[in-house]
Amino acid sequence: METKLIKVDETNLDMAADEAAKLLCDGEIVGLPTETVYGLAASALSPEAVRRVYEVKGRPQDNPIIVHISDLIMLKSVVRDIPQTAAELAKKFWPGPLTMVMEKSEAISDVVTCGMPSVAVRMPSHPVARAVIAKSGIPIAAPSANLSGRPSTTTARHVYDDLNGKIPLILDGGACSVGVESTVVSLLGEHPTILRPGIITLEELRTVLPDTVLSDKLGRALEPGETVESPGMKYKHYSPKAEVVILKGSFEQFVHFTSNLSCADAYALCFDGEEESITIPSASFGPIDKPDIQARRLFSVLRALDRFGASVIYARCPSSEKEGYAVYDRLIRAAGYKVVQM
Ligand code: TXA
Ligand code: MG
Repeated sequence: METKLIKVDETNLDMAADEAAKLLCDGEIVGLPTETVYGLAASALSPEAVRRVYEVKGRPQDNPIIVHISDLIMLKSVVRDIPQTAAELAKKFWPGPLTMVMEKSEAISDVVTCGMPSVAVRMPSHPVARAVIAKSGIPIAAPSANLSGRPSTTTARHVYDDLNGKIPLILDGGACSVGVESTVVSLLGEHPTILRPGIITLEELRTVLPDTVLSDKLGRALEPGETVESPGMKYKHYSPKAEVVILKGSFEQFVHFTSNLSCADAYALCFDGEEESITIPSASFGPIDKPDIQARRLFSVLRALDRFGASVIYARCPSSEKEGYAVYDRLIRAAGYKVVQM
């Protein structure tokens, strides 16, 4: 299959969104930009189309997919009812990088939710994603558009690199402004619970719902047989081909540690301005005190290090405060929780 790439701007947004919407309504799958990462979109109402998404990504069959909507009328059609907590969060954070887990309606097939009684829903803010969903008139199931396990896709080029020849169309809306996936919050339990950290932080959610908590399964490897609220927590994620190791400690210790390495294909992943002091090849992922920029660049840099032929990546440890927690979460998972305290 030939994969068509369309560069989208204000002048052709309407036409490009029409083309994507038509494919989606015909049961095809399409790569498209959202403000977080690129998504691999399919009609959430077509089990066959959603099955294709799992197949194309190589996604485990028990990892459910987020349903994307363009307005609150569509929300009504995909959930059993709208909890008050969801209405309040939606008012403040939608459209935007927040996904809420609620009880699903009959309209959403078991293929989307992997047989779970709940569905994860998000209203993206990206103009291209919004136009495509609105024009298709149907809720759109879309996981990140990377091959399963690989770093997420934050440019159309990343999607092309992973899925060329497997999907008919990629809409190119430029680089994603957030760069890490949405915050996922479950509204099913006693307290609203963050299952995946994102750029919308615990502190921000608490301004609306003060009893919001972080899942106790974040930030660490799972025990064998431990159950999870979100199947995505189980899987190795975001990983480049290279092994990733996080080095915790001062910059001086980092420079010392990496200068004593004997491995030829070792790369350093550092903060801006640190490259000159590091003796092995390095790439930076943003200023040390700017987690939003780190978030925007992280997946691109991990992909670039693979292209450079890195066999192991020694990474500086980002802050795990506020927005930094999303970056820390992705990096520690890319590292398979390998952290060296220097
Ligand atoms: O920013 C995003 O959320 C991007 C863009 C494309 O919107 N999408 C995305 O999808 O990151 P994906 O499939 O890569 O991640 C979805 C996460 C997984 O960890 C999955 O386990 C969880 O959401 N999830 C989906 N449905 C769920 C449910 N019903 N209950 C709990 N977790 C769910
Ligand atoms: Mg993903």
